[in-house]
Amino acid sequence: MLERLHGIKKEVDSKLVEIASMAELNELKVRILGRKGEITGLLRGLKDLTQEERAEFGRVANEVKEELELAINNKSEELKSRELLTRLEQETIDVTLPGLPLANGGKHPLTLVMEEIREIFMGMGFSVAEGPEIESDYYNFEALNIPKDHPARDMQDSFYITEEILLRTHTSPCQVRVMEKMAPELPVKIIVPGKVYRRDDDATHSPMFQQVEGLLVDRNISFGNLKGTLMTFARRIFGDDLRVRYRPSFFPFTEPSAEMDISCVMCKGAGCRVCSHTGWLEILGAGMVNPNVLRYGGYDPEEVTGFAFGMGIERIAMLKYGVNDLRLFFDNDRRFLQQF
Ligand code: DAH
Repeated sequence: MLERLHGIKKEVDSKLVEIASMAELNELKVRILGRKGEITGLLRGLKDLTQEERAEFGRVANEVKEELELAINNKSEELKSRELLTRLEQETIDVTLPGLPLANGGKHPLTLVMEEIREIFMGMGFSVAEGPEIESDYYNFEALNIPKDHPARDMQDSFYITEEILLRTHTSPCQVRVMEKMAPELPVKIIVPGKVYRRDDDATHSPMFQQVEGLLVDRNISFGNLKGTLMTFARRIFGDDLRVRYRPSFFPFTEPSAEMDISCVMCKGAGCRVCSHTGWLEILGAGMVNPNVLRYGGYDPEEVTGFAFGMGIERIAMLKYGVNDLRLFFDNDRRFLQQF
């Protein structure tokens, strides 16, 4: 049996020199060391040996087995690295193949309009300010000359967190916030873009929407400055042939107050469904800053005057792009968004 064992060892050693593939090597490994392999077969003969012979044979058999395992493993490593080398030598990568196209994302139409509005006002020397969306009753109403129980509060029903804290209903609270920070510095010349919230929900109203507020406070600011600024803005965003008109209005934080209409961007003023056959579209509220608001902001209304305006971004985007349902902006349907 010992002879047979050495025979196996010899055979394997010489085979290993010839073997050139993993498949052959695995086959050899199973035939010699496998569960039904030759070594196992030999060990079955142990029962016919004497006690001493058995111990001696067991020892040698284990040694041989270990040697064989080591030799086969070494060969396996050798084959693997040789295969890798050949692959590296043969494999080529065609660097001229065209790449895989990546789907490009794009900016949301509301972002595009917001950016355009910012650019226009920054071009006229306004800086951009921001304020909190969770606002106090004081800044959202009180400091804008809208005391508790004032009927103007009805137009802006909000989401209340406590009686004194709410989601802001407009960007106007930033008027007083910014004035407080800057007073007595002049001029205050800012726009405030941002999200606002109201208890409203239909084809032209969303519970969350965006506004841009504008505020200019300085010595000798007149309604003429307001008209010039807003006309420039309207023509930049909608085109040079645009006409505007002002109608008297009421806001507690401006005096006098006005609403600005633009000639209908669809029919150029001839009258159509979009403008309810009037030829005009209402796009923003504006006015001369109420003296009380200037005082809340820390300025002396005897010394300075100012104008302010506020507009809804969704409405401007709907007119600019001819979108007839506000909710399309918030559905995140790619077929809609891809068009911008
Ligand atoms: N805050 C008003 C609103 O949300 C819009 C507005 C009107 C803002 C007149 C102003 C303004 O600054 O002067 O309905």
